[in-house]
Amino acid sequence: MFRTHQRSDFRGGITVCGIFGYVGGKSAAKEIVQGLQALTYRGYDSAGVAVQNDYGTQIKKGVGAISEIAGVASLRGKVGVGHTRWATHGEVSVNNAHPFSYGGYTVVHNGIIENYAELKRELTAKGYVFQSQTDSEVIVMLLHFYREYPLLTALRKTVERLTGSYAIVALSDRDKGSIVCTRKNSPLIIGLGKEETFISSDVPALYGKAYQYTPLNEGDFVWVHMGGISFYHGETEVFPKLYSVNENASCHEKRGYAHFMRKEIGEVPNAVNNTLTLLRGQEIALKRVFSNATRVLLTGCGTAFHAAVFGKYLLSRALKIPTQAEVASELRYSGEKVEKSCVCIAITQSGETADTLRLLQSLKKQGHKKLIVITNTPRSSVTAFADITLLTGAGPEIGVAATKSFTSQLAAFTFIVQALSGERGEFITLPKLLTKTLQLESETKEIARELQGQKSVFFLGRDLDYPLALEGSLKLKEVSYLFSDGYAAGELKHGTLALIEKGTPVIVCLTQPRLAEKTLNALHEVSCRGAKVFLITQYEKYSGVLGVEKCLLLPPSSPHLAPLLLSVPLQFLAYHTAVLMGRNPDRPRNLAKSVTVE
Ligand code: F6R
Repeated sequence: MFRTHQRSDFRGGITVCGIFGYVGGKSAAKEIVQGLQALTYRGYDSAGVAVQNDYGTQIKKGVGAISEIAGVASLRGKVGVGHTRWATHGEVSVNNAHPFSYGGYTVVHNGIIENYAELKRELTAKGYVFQSQTDSEVIVMLLHFYREYPLLTALRKTVERLTGSYAIVALSDRDKGSIVCTRKNSPLIIGLGKEETFISSDVPALYGKAYQYTPLNEGDFVWVHMGGISFYHGETEVFPKLYSVNENASCHEKRGYAHFMRKEIGEVPNAVNNTLTLLRGQEIALKRVFSNATRVLLTGCGTAFHAAVFGKYLLSRALKIPTQAEVASELRYSGEKVEKSCVCIAITQSGETADTLRLLQSLKKQGHKKLIVITNTPRSSVTAFADITLLTGAGPEIGVAATKSFTSQLAAFTFIVQALSGERGEFITLPKLLTKTLQLESETKEIARELQGQKSVFFLGRDLDYPLALEGSLKLKEVSYLFSDGYAAGELKHGTLALIEKGTPVIVCLTQPRLAEKTLNALHEVSCRGAKVFLITQYEKYSGVLGVEKCLLLPPSSPHLAPLLLSVPLQFLAYHTAVLMGRNPDRPRNLAKSVTVE
């Protein structure tokens, strides 16, 4: 039976795809489908469910999200596992969908098996016949190869052969009623309900199901069966610390909105308010880490990198020491020496992005003690490497495109700067201002009508508006599939201006009065070449500037807060353009929320 013990070092983390498993008294298929629905943001190229009963294990799988897979409801049994896939090895097809089975063994896998080609050759020589192009199928073959051992031992022997990252959940018809699992560099969580156990890739999928959970540590093995659960680290039995599951099932409901993305943009004011509340009390720790700092290095990927660029501008001005923002995947292998007096700030909503994790892991290994992590996910893998974890309070974000989490990251930087300078008060007004900004939705939709179907769209901004221009562009291309680019407004004339033609939409972001005239120069340069210019600013005096097709007026606010307000219409713009173009903004093609392979 399950016993507890204080041990909570949750480490590692490369994953794509979502896993959900069940052992208990209810219909496993029903529980797993609900779990996978909550994990769909991790990938939806294909999905599948395996359910075991007295007669064996049956599998239903196919291309698309779990809601599109036929026949799953017909699976009878109280033990099972499911998977929702974001393809890394092998095309999107039924054959490459998980679960995989062989000779009574069934497996789902997240991660990448780097030595799969070599293992595949070896197993093929032994007579195993592969059905898929995936790296994952070697796992089920290896389990079968070790079939003389009990299932858990077979799993231990299997992972000894694997190089790479994995979260593996396996069943066997020889050990009916049991599930075994393990992980390395890919998260896996055990959830405890009333006489039922869940296995999940993340905590929100457990909402409304489990009361407590424990994240598996690297190298842990778990045997779940009808009589209870046994945890092992390697071969030693361990008793992990349990955390309570925050019952916040509403994040998985659209609550009357057509899409999660729309709902989550509406939650921006709350997310920022929660973030500022959560960060209170971190001032002393921040001052300690920044004392004697000679440099600040900020990093992240995608949207999180744009937050890093925003932080760079704010911190360089406040601290007057060199600050630099680098994409995590580049910085990791750049060979750049990061001296001990350099404060490194990593931003990651999920806390599981492999590029960011690997970088932090290597800095930690070198003995770095000034590592700050800004994440939206408590106890995510990245927190294991942090000297200070700053939690944003956006709550689970289900839409694949980051919205409320991005604005919360910007709020975290506003907090850091105020904490270091000892200034107070300004951001208390932020949630109210953001609520007011939401009222710009219908005007933003008018601009979205002008963007739909265009060949390309450009976003311009200088200084603190530059990362917002980058983010506005990323958001638009990600959910609408229109080509777009974000530019430092002064840089356009050095080449990209050649792409501006009659009718090209250009979104100009202008919230920084210091450089307003310079930004207006760029505005005139594009408008006199025929561009359709849409201006977003908090300064009414610029709304009538020659060449501006339409101006979105943000609520009056200081230049420090205005970029946070600006993030809202940019998110609306991407959302409404995508909807007008018939895209599903919650599930942009080819993407997954936790893109966590290097
Ligand atoms: C875009 C988006 C991605 C993520 C990036 C990093 O909307 O969400 O660009 O920002 O994959 O993810 P995290 O923040 O989880 O490290």
